[in-house]
Amino acid sequence: MRFYSETVDEADRLVTTADGRLEMVRTQELLRRHLPASPARVLDVGGGPGAHARWLVEDGYAVHLVDPVRRHVERAKASGATVELGDARRLTADDGSYDVVLMLGPMYHLPERADRDRALAEARRVLKPGGLLAVAGINRYASLFEHAAYAHLHKKAMRESIGTILVTQVHDGKNAFTRAYFHSGEQLRDEVAAAGFVDVDVFGVEGPAWSLLAAAERNTGQSFRESHLFDSVLTAARMAEPHPELLAASSHLLTVGWRPS
Ligand SMILES: C[S@@+](CC[C@H](N)C(=O)[O-])C[C@H]1O[C@@H](n2cnc3c(N)ncnc32)[C@H](O)[C@@H]1O
Repeated sequence: MRFYSETVDEADRLVTTADGRLEMVRTQELLRRHLPASPARVLDVGGGPGAHARWLVEDGYAVHLVDPVRRHVERAKASGATVELGDARRLTADDGSYDVVLMLGPMYHLPERADRDRALAEARRVLKPGGLLAVAGINRYASLFEHAAYAHLHKKAMRESIGTILVTQVHDGKNAFTRAYFHSGEQLRDEVAAAGFVDVDVFGVEGPAWSLLAAAERNTGQSFRESHLFDSVLTAARMAEPHPELLAASSHLLTVGWRPS
C-alpha cells in the first residue's frame, strides 16, 4: 500500500521509459493474440491505474478493474472501466461471470504460494467455462539484468540484495520495491496448470534484450522510446518466442491458460 500510494506513481511506468513502452507494446500484442473477439467481459485483477483497461475499453471490451490501492482505483475510473477496491484472493464477482481474467501484477505481490493459489482459484471460479486467464510474473533474473543495466553492481548492498533474490526468489521489500516473488517461466506455468487451467503457455514479454534498452537510456540520459534500438529489441522479443531457454532473460513473463469447457 505504501509503495503504490507514496513511493512510486504507477500511472507513469509504461509510458515514461523505453523498457516501459516495450512492456506495454508486447503485453498488448500477446493479449490481442489470445483474447476472444469483443465485446466480451474482462476482469482486470490488480489493474492498477488502468493502463491496460484503457485500451481494452477502446477495443470494445467491457472491463471491470479490481485493485487494493485506493489511488489506483480512483485513477482507473478515467479508463472507462468500472472499478472496485478489492483483493485477488477474495473476488466479489459471481461464479462463471467473465470471459477473461487478467492478473498482471498480483502474482508478484503474493510471495506465499498459498496466496497465489487462492488468487488463481478465484480467477478460475469467476471465469466462464472456456474463459481465458492471462497472468504476469516478474522473472527470477530480472533484477540481475536490471541492476547490471543501471551500473549498480559495484555496490555491495545491491549485490547482496540481488544475490538473495536469485537464491530465494523473494525480495524482502526493504529497499526500492515491495516484498515480492520472482518466478521462473516453468514455475509460473506449473502454478497456473496446478490451478486447473489447460493449454497453458508462457511468453517472455520484453524478450532477451530489454536490459540493453534500459542501459542505453539510463546511462545516456536520452530517451530511446522511439529509436532503432527500440525496434530491434522489440524484434528480438518476437524472434525469441519459440526458444524457451530465452524466457530467463525477459523482465516479465506472461502466461495464458483456459478454464476447461
Ligand atoms: C505493477 S502493478 C501492475 C498494474 C497493471 N496491471 C499493469 O500491468 O500495468 C501491480 C498491481 O497489483 C496490485 N496488487 C498487489 N497486490 C494485489 C492483490 N493482493 N490483489 C489484487 N491486486 C494486487 C497493485 O496494487 C498494483 O496495482
